[in-house]
Amino acid sequence: MSTSDQETKLYVPSEAAVKAAHVSGMDAYRKLCDEADADYEGYWARLAREFVAWKQPFTQVLDESNAPFFKWFADGTLNVSYNCLDRNVEQGRGDKVAIIFEADDGKVTRVTYNELLTQTSQLANALRSMGVKKGDRVVIYMPMSVEGVVAMQACARIGATHSVVFGGFSAQSLRDRIEDAGAVMVITADEQMRGGKQLPLKAIVDEALSLGGCDTIRNVVVYQRTGGKVAWGARDKWLHDVVAGQAITCEPEWVEAEHPLFLLYTSGSTGKPKGVQHAGGGYLLHAALTTKWTFDLKPEDVFWCTADIGWVTGHTYIAYGPLANGGTQIVFEGVPTYPDAGRFWKMIQDHKVTIFYTAPTAIRSLIKAAESNADVHPREYDLSSLRLLGSVGEPINPAAWEWYHLNIGGGRCPIVDTFWQTETGGHMITPLPGATPLVPGSCTLPFPGIMAAVVDETGKDVPWGQGGILVVKKPWPSMIRTIWGDPERFKKSYYPADFQGKYYLAGDGAIRDAKTGYFTITGRIDDVLNVSGHRMGTMEIESALVSCTELVAEAAVVGRPDDTTGEAICAFVVLKRPRPTGEEARQIAKQLRDWVGKEIGPIAKPKDIRFGDNLPKTRSGKIMRRLLRSIAKGEQITQDTSTLENPAILDQLSQSN
Ligand code: WTA
Repeated sequence: MSTSDQETKLYVPSEAAVKAAHVSGMDAYRKLCDEADADYEGYWARLAREFVAWKQPFTQVLDESNAPFFKWFADGTLNVSYNCLDRNVEQGRGDKVAIIFEADDGKVTRVTYNELLTQTSQLANALRSMGVKKGDRVVIYMPMSVEGVVAMQACARIGATHSVVFGGFSAQSLRDRIEDAGAVMVITADEQMRGGKQLPLKAIVDEALSLGGCDTIRNVVVYQRTGGKVAWGARDKWLHDVVAGQAITCEPEWVEAEHPLFLLYTSGSTGKPKGVQHAGGGYLLHAALTTKWTFDLKPEDVFWCTADIGWVTGHTYIAYGPLANGGTQIVFEGVPTYPDAGRFWKMIQDHKVTIFYTAPTAIRSLIKAAESNADVHPREYDLSSLRLLGSVGEPINPAAWEWYHLNIGGGRCPIVDTFWQTETGGHMITPLPGATPLVPGSCTLPFPGIMAAVVDETGKDVPWGQGGILVVKKPWPSMIRTIWGDPERFKKSYYPADFQGKYYLAGDGAIRDAKTGYFTITGRIDDVLNVSGHRMGTMEIESALVSCTELVAEAAVVGRPDDTTGEAICAFVVLKRPRPTGEEARQIAKQLRDWVGKEIGPIAKPKDIRFGDNLPKTRSGKIMRRLLRSIAKGEQITQDTSTLENPAILDQLSQSN
């Protein structure tokens, strides 16, 4: 579909949907944008008063005096956990179900706001009794569970800064994050259940701590999930023991709006993952606001975001946004393919889910499953409870969009294709379901108050219809505040001199439709890959490969398009021994894949590993990645290779194992 065809593919919200929506119709959308245009600070201040309960009301809105280290609502104080829990109880929603937890084996537990508040308060008291104070960092390495959400809320309650590490990361990655954050505690589980299997967590924490550099850790608190055997030391404490006998109320720590609510490590262009730091006040505002407007959340909804709490989506749209709105949500422990690939559809049917938010990768793999096994086709399930669908994490291709719309949404549910990032805290460019006409494959228009634009290298707007660099021209409340411990890297990565340090650089390319101005994200413009919606730096994977010093002399990693995972990791490796072929090559490739799995985590394992005597380099020794990208895709090399020192290498690298 050419961009100018967009109108022919418009999906316009029904009159009833427009009428019932929080943001009702395009006129309402435009009115909000106009309000933000006319008085930017006034707009955000109004919403901050409506959506957040402040202990000490703010008088300042945006403080740009130390740009690009922007501050929002800086003289206000609040507590995020108070906003998510106590506020609901005080407003009469204590007995409302906050979380419907479905375990891997299908067992369902319902937790009310009263119960969630009690559990959070008890754990918060326990953390305090173990000496955790405001500003201390606590690493959470937990399975998808009520306890995981409670751990995050308990940290927020006492002003501790949490750093959740996804349960699929290796001991080495966990260690690096603990050390960088200087954490005082790890909260984990004995094991996690995924697809009927028990997988270790506590053992990985033990290994991480044994790797050194984690001397700041005083305690490891362990939630007993499976009862599997774990090693035990003096610093280890069971979660059920530390909360036993704790008071069921806990006075929140009232913190200033800029106090760091959490760090979340994510990948960038250079080797080391960066600790993205978010501030409680502005973050909570956008989490609450976007949950209400983008998902049009109503009191009677059953909301389900399938992300893991280890990623930003699980922070904003599980741990904080739905709770801040007093919503009812599903928390799911397992995987979409267990006991079969109909699991998501069965859960939607069983729990009468009304709003479903997932990643394109999941949709694409479930399309494949449904096509090969009629029993798990969504038509076998009653999905009539659904009224809205969402997509996040990577571009959704129009074919997957259409399938999702028709087969899951029954042709009646709008799809909100939400573009955002760990750094942005919440949605940036997204349709609003009762307003924006939809175009498959486009995230449509900026959220009201988000000044997104497409510019060239000098920061000048490019005309609609022409591709460019995605920037945000004004700071917004839920933006990244800094990179933990590395303010210089924050400036360089997000406020580069190219744009006089004025625009936030997202790291993605984008194009606006020539007629509608709708945004389409064209993918990362830096060395970051997006595999199944997981962000990974090519250099991070390269460093993991070359750290296998016994075998690897040199490595270069690129992405190539993949039908299911969006992008796939392709590694080109020069060994310290002669180039292997045949069975030997396959064996070494497996060995290296496992190595990367151990260094970073299974999600970083290269799909494809090619061996060469060398890598394609310019005479000055620079690796020509664009050539590697073409080879990875299996394309004919049509580029100019005259600057290449060793053209013969291209043939060699084109052979897969
Ligand atoms: C990509 C996930 C296209 C993008 C919330 C971004 C998307 C990166 C979309 C951030 C979307 C996310 N359409 N691309 N709707 N959503 N991305 O930090 O490249 O894990 O920069 O945050 O995912 O990934 P992150």
